[in-house]
Amino acid sequence: MKKILVIGACGQIGSELTPYLRNIYGVNNVVAADCIYPLKGELREAGPSCKIDATQAEDIAIAVKKYEIDTIFNLAAILSAKAEATPMLGWNVGIGALLNCLEVAREYKTALFTPSSIGAFGQDTPHDQTPQDTLQRPRTIYGITKVTGELLSDYYFHRYGVDTRSVRYPGIISNVTLPGGGTTDYAVEIYYAAVKGETFYCPLKAGTFLDMMYMPDALHAIVQLMEADPAKLKHRNAFNIASMSFDPEMLYAEIRKHEPDFKMEYRLDSVRQAIADSWPNSMDDHCAREEWGWKPSYNLDKMTEDMLKVLRTKVTHV
Ligand code: SER
Repeated sequence: MKKILVIGACGQIGSELTPYLRNIYGVNNVVAADCIYPLKGELREAGPSCKIDATQAEDIAIAVKKYEIDTIFNLAAILSAKAEATPMLGWNVGIGALLNCLEVAREYKTALFTPSSIGAFGQDTPHDQTPQDTLQRPRTIYGITKVTGELLSDYYFHRYGVDTRSVRYPGIISNVTLPGGGTTDYAVEIYYAAVKGETFYCPLKAGTFLDMMYMPDALHAIVQLMEADPAKLKHRNAFNIASMSFDPEMLYAEIRKHEPDFKMEYRLDSVRQAIADSWPNSMDDHCAREEWGWKPSYNLDKMTEDMLKVLRTKVTHV
C-alpha cells in the first residue's frame, strides 16, 4: 500500500482509519473521501481529500486516476437496523458502492478492502464459536449485502485477479465518531451515558451475547490483513475476527466498576433484538490467526478503562 483512497472517511471507521493510515504511510499518500464534502477538521487539513459518492463509479475512477491510487478502502454502508427500515437504500449503497469499487479496482489494478460483518451470518448458523466456513443465509438486507459482497469480492479475485481482502467485523466500539443505525451501537452509547451521568436504556435484552471489538484492534486488523503475504491467504472474503463477546449485563457490570452509581434499564427494540438474535454469540477466528497473524490487544476490561478515560475528557470539553 503506497497510495490509498478511503471512501467513507467521515464514518465511524473512516474517521479513525484515515489518520491511522496517514500516520503509517504518510499524510500525502492517504486521500480522504466522502459524499459529505468538504470534509471537516483534521481529515481535510492533514492531507488530500475529495468528494466521492460511492454509488457513482465515475467519482471513484476520477480520484483513483488523479491520485494514482493502489489501494481502496471502501467503507460506504448503511448499518443493519437502518437498512431494515430502508432496504433499497441499504442495498443500493452496500452493493452499488462495492460493485463500483470492484470495477474500478479491476480497471486500475488496485487492491480493495470492503468490510464484512457478523451480520453476514443468520439464524441457522451455529451461534457459538461460529466457524469461518459455515452456513450463512442471513435474513436482514444488511446481511444479504454483506454475503453478496463477500461472494462478489471473491469472484473478482478468482476471475480477474483483483486483490480483494476483508474481515467480518464484530460490533466496533470507538470514542471518536458514533456509529448510526447499527444493532451493536448500544455498546458505544452506554459509555456516553455513563460518563454523562445519565440512565442508559438498553435496546437489547440481558443474555444477548454478541462479538465486539475496540477500534484500535479493528484498525490494526485492516492494515495487518492488507499487508499480509498473499501466498499465505487461503481465505480472502471475509475472515472471522474476534476479541471479546459479552451481553448487556456484563458490559453494565464492567462499567459499574468505574462508575458505581451508573444505572441501566431495559427498553427493548424489537427490530434490533431480532437482528441480534440471528447473529453469532461468538466467532471462531483461528483462520485469521493462522493465515495472517491476527491477535487482538483489548478485552472488555482494558477497553472499558480506556473508553471511560477518553470519554470523560471529551464530555467535559463539549
Ligand atoms: N455494527 C454493525 C451493525 O450493528 C454490524 O456489523 O449493524
